[in-house]
Amino acid sequence: MESDTLVFFVNGTKVVDKNVDPEMTLLTYLRTKLNFTGTKLGCAEGGCGACTVMISKYSPSENQISHYSVNACLSPVCAVHGLAVTTVEGIGSTKTRLHPVQERIAKAHGSQCGFCTPGIVMSMYTLLRNNPQPSYDEMMAAFEGNLCRCTGYRPIIQGYKTFTKEYCCGDAGVNGCCQNQNATTQQEEEEMLSSTKLYNANEFVPFDPTQEPIFPPELKNHADQYSKTVQFCSDRLKWIRPVSIDEILDLKAQYPDAKLINGNTEVGVEVKFKNQHYPVLLTPSHIPELKRVEITDTGVVFGASVSLSVIDKVLKNQIESLPEYKTGVFSAIVEMLRWFAGPQVRNVSAIGGNIITASPISDLNPLLMAAGCKLTLISRSGTRNVVMNDTFFTGYRKTLLEKEEILLFVHIPHTRQDEYFYGYKQSPRREDDIAIVNAGMRVIFEPGTHIVREIALSFGGMAPTTVLATKTMKALVGRKWEENMLDDICELLKKDLQLSPSAPGGMIEYRKTLTASFFFKFYLTVMNKLHAKEVIEASVPSSYKTTISPLQRDNIKSSQLYQEVADGQPADDAVGRPLVHLSAFKQTTGEAIYCDDIPPINGELYLAFVTSTKAHAKIRSIKSDEATCLDGVHAFITYKDVPGSNSTGVAVYDEEVFASEKVVCVGQIIGAIVADDKAIAQRAAKQVIVHYDELDPIITIEDAISKESYFNAIHTIARGNVQEGFEMSDHVIDGEVRLGGQEHFYLEANAAIAIPKGEDGEMEIISSSQNPTLNQKLAAKALGVPQNRIVAKVKRLGGGFGGKETRCCMYSTCLAVAAHRVGKPVRFMMDRDEDMCMSGFRHPFLARYKVGFNNNGKIQSIEIDLYSNAGCSLDLSASVMDRALYSVDGCYMIPNIRTTGYPCKTNIASNTAFRGFGGPQGMFVMEHIITDIAYKCNISQHRIREINMYKEGDLTHYNQTFITNNSLDRCWKECLQKSDYQRRKRQVDMYNSENRWKKRGISIIPTKYGISFTFKTLNQTGALVQVYTDGSVLIAHGGTEMGQGLHTKMIQVASRALNIPVNKIFISETSTNTVPNTSPTAASSGSDLNGQAVKIACDKILQRLNSFVLSNPKGSWEDWVTAAYLDRVSLSATGFYKVPDIGHDMNTNTGHPFSYFTVGVGCSEVEIDCLTGDHHVIRTDIVMDLGQSLNPAIDIGQIEGAFMQGYGLFTIEDLRWSPNGTLLTRGPGMYKIPSFGDVPTVFNVSLLANCPNKHAIYSSKAVGEPPLFLASSVFFGIKYAIMSARADAGITNIFCMDSPATAEHIRMACQDQFTSKFPPAEPGTYVPWFIRM
Ligand SMILES: Cc1cc2nc3c(=O)[nH]c(=O)nc-3n(C[C@H](O)[C@H](O)[C@H](O)COP(=O)(O)OP(=O)(O)OC[C@H]3O[C@@H](n4cnc5c(N)ncnc54)[C@H](O)[C@@H]3O)c2cc1C
Ligand code: FES
Ligand code: FES
Repeated sequence: MESDTLVFFVNGTKVVDKNVDPEMTLLTYLRTKLNFTGTKLGCAEGGCGACTVMISKYSPSENQISHYSVNACLSPVCAVHGLAVTTVEGIGSTKTRLHPVQERIAKAHGSQCGFCTPGIVMSMYTLLRNNPQPSYDEMMAAFEGNLCRCTGYRPIIQGYKTFTKEYCCGDAGVNGCCQNQNATTQQEEEEMLSSTKLYNANEFVPFDPTQEPIFPPELKNHADQYSKTVQFCSDRLKWIRPVSIDEILDLKAQYPDAKLINGNTEVGVEVKFKNQHYPVLLTPSHIPELKRVEITDTGVVFGASVSLSVIDKVLKNQIESLPEYKTGVFSAIVEMLRWFAGPQVRNVSAIGGNIITASPISDLNPLLMAAGCKLTLISRSGTRNVVMNDTFFTGYRKTLLEKEEILLFVHIPHTRQDEYFYGYKQSPRREDDIAIVNAGMRVIFEPGTHIVREIALSFGGMAPTTVLATKTMKALVGRKWEENMLDDICELLKKDLQLSPSAPGGMIEYRKTLTASFFFKFYLTVMNKLHAKEVIEASVPSSYKTTISPLQRDNIKSSQLYQEVADGQPADDAVGRPLVHLSAFKQTTGEAIYCDDIPPINGELYLAFVTSTKAHAKIRSIKSDEATCLDGVHAFITYKDVPGSNSTGVAVYDEEVFASEKVVCVGQIIGAIVADDKAIAQRAAKQVIVHYDELDPIITIEDAISKESYFNAIHTIARGNVQEGFEMSDHVIDGEVRLGGQEHFYLEANAAIAIPKGEDGEMEIISSSQNPTLNQKLAAKALGVPQNRIVAKVKRLGGGFGGKETRCCMYSTCLAVAAHRVGKPVRFMMDRDEDMCMSGFRHPFLARYKVGFNNNGKIQSIEIDLYSNAGCSLDLSASVMDRALYSVDGCYMIPNIRTTGYPCKTNIASNTAFRGFGGPQGMFVMEHIITDIAYKCNISQHRIREINMYKEGDLTHYNQTFITNNSLDRCWKECLQKSDYQRRKRQVDMYNSENRWKKRGISIIPTKYGISFTFKTLNQTGALVQVYTDGSVLIAHGGTEMGQGLHTKMIQVASRALNIPVNKIFISETSTNTVPNTSPTAASSGSDLNGQAVKIACDKILQRLNSFVLSNPKGSWEDWVTAAYLDRVSLSATGFYKVPDIGHDMNTNTGHPFSYFTVGVGCSEVEIDCLTGDHHVIRTDIVMDLGQSLNPAIDIGQIEGAFMQGYGLFTIEDLRWSPNGTLLTRGPGMYKIPSFGDVPTVFNVSLLANCPNKHAIYSSKAVGEPPLFLASSVFFGIKYAIMSARADAGITNIFCMDSPATAEHIRMACQDQFTSKFPPAEPGTYVPWFIRM
């Protein structure tokens, strides 16, 4: 079959490809064929938005150009034939002019690592192209498909809010809006009163919507030419775009197995992640019937290819124009679409795709089924109409469609008088998430009565298909809409929706309970309507009213307070000023280069890993012939190819570069394919067959405890006499609590390039690593060369958070071996699922404790055993556990304490560093104990905290004096006062007394974080400062830039040290050949360590310049530098710094581990829905002591980002494994990190004033990790709310709530008449679908 020529435009330039590969996505095409690397790969499954681009399309029939955002990672490149694509490079550049959407996100400090930034920029840009002055809600909706892991979203929202109606003057005419120069809303005024400005919105370049690039005239003028049937073929795939219904029916008859693709949001994921290959794809985007929208007397008829965004628009119009009673189904669909994926998916995915995919958790199918929608099916044999009822889905992902048949129309009916229709959905995260359970519910009453004439209850997530609860429906017909109906509903639903305890998806009791909870909500909502119509007298009790009100999104209010620099500070001294991250502008335009953006090096090949699918097994054989026979494959690399040592590791060498005889976790590297490109390498890697002899795995902490499987790193810290302490206590209680792990979810997955230099064993490794020195060391060991032959370089990372501290070095070592073997440059960038499966997590913890305390809540004695799931190798687990032991006191003085840590050796991927490094786990246990004590003593939690809180000069349990210059006490009091805690707590209690099914909670939590690596050796670093004859300064230091603004801060430090403006100073990269033997950029110590080293080097230079300054005091920096050069004075200096007076010996409990403490306090108020487990954060206030901040914008960004990451840890981020140790939550589809909609509605951050810190550079303090734990205030707020719900149900015992507080945990902890009807199956009688660690 002959292929047509693909034609489309990118950023105004025509692309013509006569030989396109129809399997290629638009993203791969843009990045690898056109070198537009601004568009990023974050997940390849439509879940992160990093790949967002704008598509523009001309419709000849409407003579209209439309613009919409799409995920380039899911869009086949063939799908853009005849269309115009705009990428982030197409809208502005630092070299010409930044577009206002680029400028504002950067200036508002909304770009940290920058990997998410191009996608966010393009979402905002597309919104503005369609609507130059959107509302705040429209703006927030535009971001539903974008994720950011660094910023905490607040600065992005605040920067972009300046485009909205609510902010602007309202004049978006030809000259553009006045761009808010003076306009302020009441909310802005409130914010300004309490904020110190981090940027000046008045400096923003005005947005002029008339100045956007035009649609390529050729595409408009020759629209007919681009609307013809086209086909693009390769050996493996035919991609055909027919233009008439006859044509597609013929093709379907010819290729009955062909898939119809609209958005490709389902098929794309199947191909990428489920190993599916469909040889023929038909795209119906140009078939008029399938795109038809017809308004009829009975409803609306949609062609099957109509996109969800169009459906949303059409139904909203209908809702506005029709009487309310007619639009019940329409409203339910519109409400459901609000929580359905992000706009990038909704813009392209079609109603037909959703229906025919037949997913058991489809969001539309329960609604369409409950509404009894009619579907028109068509094939060459004719047309037939079917009703969407319980016969439509014939099995898991199957429908009654014949092979040659396609779905033509979907008829969505009006509702009638006396008919009520509602939809329900509960997912782990509210926005852009798939459902755990969803439902469509419809009831029709006998006219004017409350007697049920007809009822339809349809559920998703309760069976392999969407189902109708037919027995329940039958039983309810003829009954009155009265409370006694509820008595039977649980039993009825139980019979209809029988989930086995091992059913896929797990969460069995929760899912069952949700069905009843949804029905209860439906019951109350309908009752409210009947009462309003005076059909019934009884009204919904006032304490139940909030149950039926839909969730509203309020505009986010925020404030950021910091101490501005003193009036007399010289202008060139940048320390203390809110400088924009120095790469931010480049990050907004796509000019910032990340590892995988580096253009291919001549002869470069690509590597794909072959990894273990078993948790514990002997490798019996490996068969790679089929893989190596594939065209384009160069080699299959195994341990036999390692020229040096195959043993590797971090703290000890307990790992292998490539598994030789045995595998110890799923995801362990067994081999690697090296091939011409990524697609071939990945395809070949899948064809390598490994045979195993399975061994018994140890998966959970409990397994490890029972088998005493621990690493040889069991440490104890003890102080006082624990037994005596218990004897002196009024109460002694014991318990246990768990904290789950957390995926780093840096937006840029691990990537590296290894370049053999061809002589003397030299190799350059460029990677996305927090630890270039470890890259160098481990590669040298594996290659059997001295370390001086390996240069490891890092330009910037798209986020690290600890996840790229050590594990990345294992991958770059394999890469180095592969590059050595083939003698060519080799590159890899992991896919998100690989990265998640292979690279380890934050350690899950289990704590078993016993605590003694007095009636007044004063703690006397504690014994805590901590167990972490360390995974299959030691990595950093000993140090992580040590920090947990150091942190287990929280902020509290405990006279007698004994705490022991057991890093458990298991058969899961090696767990590793993650922001906080064991600290949050330790502190969480302590705060959990505080809630127990408060409950037992009947004293408020915050009072228990005050009673036990450290005072200046107290000794910690590791015998370090607690000195913060009274900061902890100041932060505590300031946070109490700023958050108005006492008054709001009374309000919360009042709210709870008035509401049964919605509850609120408030909690105030302190944190102290010891600063230093607890492994003493690492507390050192170096810097190299070089001054060139033009006066420009190049700095190299030991730290890596991963978004945290380290390079920006280092330049600020140098600006003060050298007394020159920041624009004369530059940092290019981190490299082992400029600064050797560096420590990883970790432990929050980057600025402290490197700042001192930079300053020391700068001081040396200044000293050398001193005589030239004295001889020419009025001269300039350049004059002095030139004079020094002419006088043959070295203008290059190194700085070396080690932290003085630290080091702690756990055996003797002497010395002190930390240089100083960073402290802070956070207060959060939350609301939970007791029926579904949903929650949202109403308000958070944070006060932190960061000394004299080097850069308040960056530091506040770190606080907000850490808080949101901690919020994820303690609430929605929920890792799940199969019982045999395979990670199930691999990617943004299954694993949810916080999104835009999760930001607290009020979010105030304040830096404590007047608190200089003598232990760190220019009196600053470390910030990266300490704020994360403050997010536990959300968790404990949720727990407070749950306690109220339990009290209403008459349950008053102490209860343990493990973290995270997922929707499932919240719902099931709120025990009530519904949960009690769905008891769990007897443990041991079934194999659960998933386990948590
Ligand atoms: C990030 C992300 C988030 C998502 N969120 C949600 C969500 O919140 N809720 C939800 O329900 N789903 C969600 N999905 C799933 C998916 O987006 C939807 O099911 C979507 O409606 C599929 O439409 P599509 O056009 O992209 O399907 P495609 O992938 O193009 O096609 C899907 C299937 O439908 C068949 N098909 C399409 N049209 C016809 C036709 N006319 N006749 C016969 N067969 C046809 C195809 O052959 C194919 O098998 C999400 C997907 C992604 C990637
Ligand atoms: S890379 Fe496309 S959405 Fe994540
Ligand atoms: S700045 Fe958003 S992911 Fe890093």
